[in-house]
Amino acid sequence: MASKPQRILILDGHPDGGGRRFVHALAEAYAQGAREAGHEVRTLSVGQLDIPLLRKGEDFQAGTPSREVQRWQEALGWAGHLVVLYPLWLGDMPAALKAFFEQVLRPGFAFAAGGGKRLPKKLLKGRSARVIVTMGMPALFYRWYYRAHSLKNLERNILAFAGFGPIRSTVIGAVDGKAATRKAWLDKVRRLGRRAA
Ligand SMILES: Cc1cc2nc3c(=O)[nH]c(=O)nc-3n(C[C@H](O)[C@H](O)[C@H](O)COP(=O)(O)O)c2cc1C
Repeated sequence: MASKPQRILILDGHPDGGGRRFVHALAEAYAQGAREAGHEVRTLSVGQLDIPLLRKGEDFQAGTPSREVQRWQEALGWAGHLVVLYPLWLGDMPAALKAFFEQVLRPGFAFAAGGGKRLPKKLLKGRSARVIVTMGMPALFYRWYYRAHSLKNLERNILAFAGFGPIRSTVIGAVDGKAATRKAWLDKVRRLGRRAA
């Protein structure tokens, strides 16, 4: 069934700006499927962005984000559906992608202090998300042995905290394996793009 046209932001979280990376191919497959189905797509590729490291809590709380960071915030605000893709590095998202979130998801944009004992207000409500993570180990091992802890952190502590929901995930394990398996994943992700799911 065709889904309503959506505004989709694809955040390709691979730190390698060039090169033939599977994560780039997955991001492209999602974009292709989505465009074919009439969705509007924008892409931000972490590997091509100059992302400064956030070094002080004061900057996070009260600093003025650079023009470039504001541009990324604008892209996030524009989207109704966010797709985040990254390779698992040392059990977590690569540092460059974490640096992106630390710059972009600031108070006043992603959430607002609740005051007193109240919980912070989520400012990015009404947006869904899909996280696609690739890794060397088998996906089941990551989900069952490691309890997908870093993925849950991204879903709950970062995205849901800012108001995203529902958030779905795709874990692609044993990624350095057969070409036929990679092709099957690219087809599957292209189908997700068509449904903006
Ligand atoms: C620095 C680094 C750390 C990695 N850490 C892990 C890890 O903790 N667990 C794992 O299963 N795979 C790990 N891998 C394998 C990558 O997740 C895998 O090669 C990647 O998802 C392939 O995607 P790409 O072709 O787009 O780079 C690591 C790879 C690199 C380069």
